[in-house]
Amino acid sequence: MIYRGNRNRIGDHQPAKVRDTIGLMPKQQSLIAALAIALVAGAQTADQRQDWNKIFADSNLNYNRAPSRLLVSAVADRKPGAAVDLGMGEGRNTIFLVQKGWRVAGVDLSDVAVAQAKKHAAELGVQIETVIEDLDKYDFGHERWDLITLFYMHGWYHLSKLDSARRLRDALKPGGLLVIEGFAGGQVGYQTNELLRAFNDLNILHYEDVRDEADWAPGQKSRIVRFVAEKGK
Ligand SMILES: C[S@@+](CC[C@H](N)C(=O)[O-])C[C@H]1O[C@@H](n2cnc3c(N)ncnc32)[C@H](O)[C@@H]1O
Repeated sequence: MIYRGNRNRIGDHQPAKVRDTIGLMPKQQSLIAALAIALVAGAQTADQRQDWNKIFADSNLNYNRAPSRLLVSAVADRKPGAAVDLGMGEGRNTIFLVQKGWRVAGVDLSDVAVAQAKKHAAELGVQIETVIEDLDKYDFGHERWDLITLFYMHGWYHLSKLDSARRLRDALKPGGLLVIEGFAGGQVGYQTNELLRAFNDLNILHYEDVRDEADWAPGQKSRIVRFVAEKGK
């Protein structure tokens, strides 16, 4: 197990709305801020979908479209199996996993993001299975997945009306892997040691809470959490 970074700090000093939109262009900032506000106010799925559709329709959207480095290293020595990429966005991680032999369901409520993911996959000659659905309505199943990925889904994790941690834990097969990366601190980011506590019945293989370049805020440092854990067999 590897622990890095400051594990005792409570939140960040910057206001949540500023922190959560760090590193994005002004137009994107207003889109992301609008989304954060809508989520906090308990927006319905249709509103969230519209907001994310707007974000993905923006040709200036600036994020790292390469597969996550955390994910690449987390699965390097694993036998491919059944995986679900929750909040797949434009599919950077789903496509990578399919290329590595995993059977992947990519789930996202944004039909624009999913359409872009399919287009990109087709350009690469990769076939991906996608589901356009709100994660609160998607059936995660019971002991169904060898791998669950949750990248930059801290907003959903916290604002869901359901118990996200319980659903994730329950959906993992014995021996299955849970890989999470997202912003930390602020109103909807992961809090200090939150994931360690929420998944204390899993074997933690990697945990860090650091300032680093986030895939969703390139070009500068943000506080992010990276987490890899395995369910016991
Ligand atoms: C910051 S993006 C991350 C995308 C992808 N995981 C990545 O790292 O590239 C957040 C994604 O979550 C999706 N999303 C947000 N809330 C959701 C929900 N309740 N159900 C399903 N997808 C959701 C958005 O449409 C968007 O694609």
